[in-house]
Parts: sequence; C-alpha cells; structure tokens
Amino acid sequence: MRVYCAENYEAMSRRAANIISAQVITKPDSVLGLATGGTPVGAYRQLVEWYKKGDLSFAEIRSVNLDEYYGLSPWHEQSYRYFMQSNLFDHIDIRPENTHVLNGLADNAQRECERYNQLIHDLGGIDLQLLGMGHNGHIAFNEPGDDFGLETHLVTLTDRTIDANTRFFERREDVPRQALTMGIKNIMRARRILMVVSGADKAEAVYQAFCGRVTRDVPASVLQLHPDVTLVGDRDALSKL
Ligand code: GLP
Repeated sequence: MRVYCAENYEAMSRRAANIISAQVITKPDSVLGLATGGTPVGAYRQLVEWYKKGDLSFAEIRSVNLDEYYGLSPWHEQSYRYFMQSNLFDHIDIRPENTHVLNGLADNAQRECERYNQLIHDLGGIDLQLLGMGHNGHIAFNEPGDDFGLETHLVTLTDRTIDANTRFFERREDVPRQALTMGIKNIMRARRILMVVSGADKAEAVYQAFCGRVTRDVPASVLQLHPDVTLVGDRDALSKL
C-alpha cells in the first residue's frame, strides 16, 4: 500500500488527479470507478482544468459510479448522477453513453443491481476505483456490518450516514433512507484502488481502517487485503497513522 500525505485539501486533490490522469494517459480506454461526496470534488476540478488545457482526453474512457440514492431521479440536484454531470462529465469529452450510474428510480432494485454487476463484468472490470470514506468507515454505501461477499445491492442507510449527508439537503427528512451500492466484492475486484481522505474528522476512521483489524464493523478495513491500494490524504486526515 502506498500512502501520500499532502499538506492540505488542494494538494491532496492535485495528487489524486495526477494518479487518475496517469491511468487515463497510459490506458486511454480505462474503466474508471468513480465516487461522489465532498472529498473527490477537488480532484475532479483539477482533471477538468487539465482537460481544458488540452493535456487530457476522456474520449475513450468508460466510467461506473459506486452508488446512487434509491428513490432519487437522475435530475434531482442531490442525486449522484447529477453530481457527476455537474462536477465532471459536463465539462470533459467523455461520451455520455460511456458513463454509468445506478438508476435510483428502478422499479425492481434487485434487477437493477444484477444489471449493474453484469455491466461491470461486460466492461472488463474496473481498472482504477476512486473511493472516499464515511466517518464510520463506510465505502460507497457499504455500512458497518455489511457482508464483504456482497455485489451490488440495496442498503438502508445508517443514522450516522444520513446525518453526514443532511448537509447537502434542505432538511434531514429529505435524505433518502435507502441506496443502491456496489458491494465490497465489486470494489475488491478493481485492479487498483485510490482512496482520498481529508480533514481531522476522518482521522479516526482512517486509523481504524488501515491500522486496525480487518472487520465488517469498519468496511474500509477490507482494503488491507487488496494488493494495489493508494491512500492520498491531507495531513489532518492522516494524523493518526
Ligand atoms: C457518501 C458516499 C461515499 C462517500 C462518503 C464520504 O456516503 N456514498 O461514497 O465516500 O459519503 O463523503 P465525503 O467525501 O463528503 O466525506
């Protein structure tokens, strides 16, 4: 495992964007596993900047996102599809048909999850999976206690995750209670993992994930078993390592 400690959020974002762009340059038709949340926003901003300068092209890139709120339409401003469009896809040359996000409005959640697993398989698997981490060690929406053997599935969000995500909604009641998420098994099959973490409020989760036992109580701890993980964090988030 490689760990890069950056001075602050901006430097962390640049380092993460560097790693993603190296993947894009060396394999222009890569399958990128993409993440939402506040942490990767700076890295996406940097990628857009490099694209606009003509340094990068995403024309052949395929993307699969980790998760989506169940019950939100792709046009809802807090949906992860909307997030990806406004933070990245609308500003680069990735082909719309090559961007994949779970459908939060699918009538049959089970069938949507199966479709997504098949899609990842048909794309040839994920070359580089970008991940953030929740305060309770969750990755994507795999909450503490979730089975490591699961593929894409429907989850009920914990109170802590709902609290953390309330900042993006007007009221706590507006935060969806369920989500569709890739499972730990999908994530662990990615060839490379890039985790980004920022802020002192993540320090304990980072410590538990990478220095503690591998346990379902801290979903990110499973990454200790992955052969190619890069952790990029700012000084505050890595302060307990
Ligand atoms: C959400 C997302 C995760 C993300 C986490 C942390 O729960 N489903 O993929 O890693 O939030 O988000 P943030 O980066 O805003 O702390």
